[in-house]
Amino acid sequence: MFSVAESVQAVEKNGDKLFTKELPRGRHCSFIKLSDGWGLKVYLRKDQRDDAHLHQTRAAVHGLGPETGPAFDVKVNEKDYFVYTTEVVETVYQGCYFYQVAPGGGESSEAHTQRVALIDKWQEEADELKAELDTTIGWDFKDSFPSNWGLKNGQLICIDFS
Ligand SMILES: Nc1ncnc2c1ncn2[C@@H]1O[C@H](COP(=O)(O)OP(=O)(O)O)[C@@H](O)[C@H]1O
Ligand SMILES: [Mg+2]
Repeated sequence: MFSVAESVQAVEKNGDKLFTKELPRGRHCSFIKLSDGWGLKVYLRKDQRDDAHLHQTRAAVHGLGPETGPAFDVKVNEKDYFVYTTEVVETVYQGCYFYQVAPGGGESSEAHTQRVALIDKWQEEADELKAELDTTIGWDFKDSFPSNWGLKNGQLICIDFS
């Protein structure tokens, strides 16, 4: 795993790309892929980072989420970012839903078709994952859809704990 000092440098180096299309992102988190199977999840709010880090760390114990590393704060261009280290896993839906928007807002029809097909394919496993997260760590995976699913050892896991 990378040291916190190296990870801080990686956030600084990506400072201009954070929360732009140049990095995978959702509504809360901008994602930086490092190497050797590790990455960084960058948040704008400390409480969001802390919650996601806590729940992912608990879920990882049960094989229901990627492994985690340390959490740390970074200031880049006078702006505060709240970060934690994560294992990188294969994602189910690489085309990040957040940016697949039609001109009038909302999801493009192509993205919608892809997403519905994936939901059909994985629905049973997704239901099981949600139930297991609830019974093991008492966390409700409200945002269970393909952009927030990953694969580890061939099993569907949650990658978005925010
Ligand atoms: N552990 C991970 N491994 C690989 N990609 C990830 C991982 N966590 C997040 N990502 C990528 O970053 C994107 C945003 O992360 P996510 O946790 O879904 O944030 P948000 O809460 O903003 O939706 C994901 O859709 C995915 O593309
Ligand atoms: Mg997400």
